[in-house]
Amino acid sequence: MKHYQIYTESAEETEQFAAELAELLQAGDVITLEGDLGAGKTTFTKGLAKGLHIKRVVKSPTFTIIKEYKGRLPLYHMDVYRLQESGEDLGFDEYFEGEGVTVVEWAHLIKEFLPSNRFEITIRRLGEEKREITLEPNGERCKKVCEELFK
Ligand SMILES: Nc1ncnc2c1ncn2[C@@H]1O[C@H](COP(=O)(O)OP(=O)(O)OP(=O)(O)O)[C@@H](O)[C@H]1O
Ligand SMILES: [Mg+2]
Repeated sequence: MKHYQIYTESAEETEQFAAELAELLQAGDVITLEGDLGAGKTTFTKGLAKGLHIKRVVKSPTFTIIKEYKGRLPLYHMDVYRLQESGEDLGFDEYFEGEGVTVVEWAHLIKEFLPSNRFEITIRRLGEEKREITLEPNGERCKKVCEELFK
């Protein structure tokens, strides 16, 4: 499977990359984020929010699993870390097929519910501020967006 890789040297650079991706997104797009604690998943989500012209500050939803923000498109931010054991379906489809863009931290924990068309992003910590971001587009739409993003 073709994938793309970029390296960032600061949180701002990661946000900038996410914001560029956000500009190309449309309703129904789903982005999954994987990476260890502190890798930068929420930082990436902040960048997506900026790129969608969301004014509110995105915070890690520790006690809420799903948060919604209003922008050029709504952004549904899920952090499913706390679903580890339950594997419960919280009506994810309504978000994935909704009016906005969905971003899911720790997405593998709900993999049976994920749509097959999605942007799979993995962030790896290489140093204090250095990160490797791998993007795997699944499905024609995501592939097209990536070609545009990386041209
Ligand atoms: N290149 C970089 N990209 C992203 N974050 C970076 C980078 N360099 C440093 N950081 C810092 O690393 C931390 C990443 O934290 P963040 O909350 O985004 O991680 P997370 O993957 O969401 O963690 P968690 O699993 O706890 O949700 C932030 O403090 C951020 O400022
Ligand atoms: Mg986080």
